[in-house]
Amino acid sequence: MYMKKIALTGIKPTGILHIGNYFGAIKPALRLAKEYDARYFIADYHALNTVKDPHVLAAHIREVAAGWLAAGLNPEEVIFYRQSSIPETFELTTILMAFTSKGLMNRAHAYKAAVQENLENHEDPDAGINMGLFTYPVLMAADILLFNPDVVPVGRDQVQHVEMAQDIAQGINFNYKGDILKIPQAAVQAEAAVVPGLDGRKMSKSYGNTIPLFAPEKQLRKLIMRIVTNSQGVEEPKDPETSQIYLLYKLFASAEEQQALAKQYRHGGMGWGDAKEELFRVVRRELSPLRNRFEAIIADTPALDAVLAQGAAKARPLAQATLNRLRRAAGIAG
Ligand code: TRP
Repeated sequence: MYMKKIALTGIKPTGILHIGNYFGAIKPALRLAKEYDARYFIADYHALNTVKDPHVLAAHIREVAAGWLAAGLNPEEVIFYRQSSIPETFELTTILMAFTSKGLMNRAHAYKAAVQENLENHEDPDAGINMGLFTYPVLMAADILLFNPDVVPVGRDQVQHVEMAQDIAQGINFNYKGDILKIPQAAVQAEAAVVPGLDGRKMSKSYGNTIPLFAPEKQLRKLIMRIVTNSQGVEEPKDPETSQIYLLYKLFASAEEQQALAKQYRHGGMGWGDAKEELFRVVRRELSPLRNRFEAIIADTPALDAVLAQGAAKARPLAQATLNRLRRAAGIAG
């Protein structure tokens, strides 16, 4: 029997989704789900390291789950669940801890960056760093190794974490002399576009230059009108490829539309205001149906909870199989 390969990724619910997430993570992951057996989950215990307000965390979890569903995740096709619904994750984490050297964690980029920042601010090196942040790569390794994925689609910043999961799994397989855990590969989506933000830098929550995916139309238009441009006048010919407006336009427009706008740019006679109106037209065309679906999904809490519970019910037996295999190998069966 032909078995599809498995793809798994975690979605940290730490903020409102923006169009950088949409083109950089959501769309590529949904494309991948057509080809792979996909297991995508809301990494809520990862978010707990930084989000300490219960109302904020609960809202983010619901918004991110509803956002992925609105963007087209089909829960019949993708096993879609909350990390916190899979207690096996936390038992596996404990086993993995016994095989993870502290030195490996010392080398994690996120931890090192936090220490570095403290040193620069003349603080204690570990100020504000909790054990959740320090051991983050172990929890992430458990998320991954529990479900035997072949590939883990992630952004570049997460590749090191996937490599740590490989290291930990190899240590376990070596110790117990068997292929107990599958060694996963990171897949950095090549086509995952870098989405330009309102100020010309990469769109990122930390730069505050994002366009929220589900912004009401009025706000959407306002944000688009705020995109930074140069001082070229209406009549001047313009280079489309150096224009933030055009780079964003390319993500939303058909090939014909892109050619037409590029021609207008080069010809001259089109001001930045007109280009922004045209950008708003295509953004609205794609995002309005998405926003309508999002609003319907987020309004129906019981239905959303049911989708996630159904995902957890499918995921848990898979998790239990891996955990039991490892417990037996370790001599902790029973
Ligand atoms: N650390 C990832 C991020 O910050 C989220 C994540 C948690 C994850 N567990 C995972 C990604 C497992 C891939 C696989 O984006």
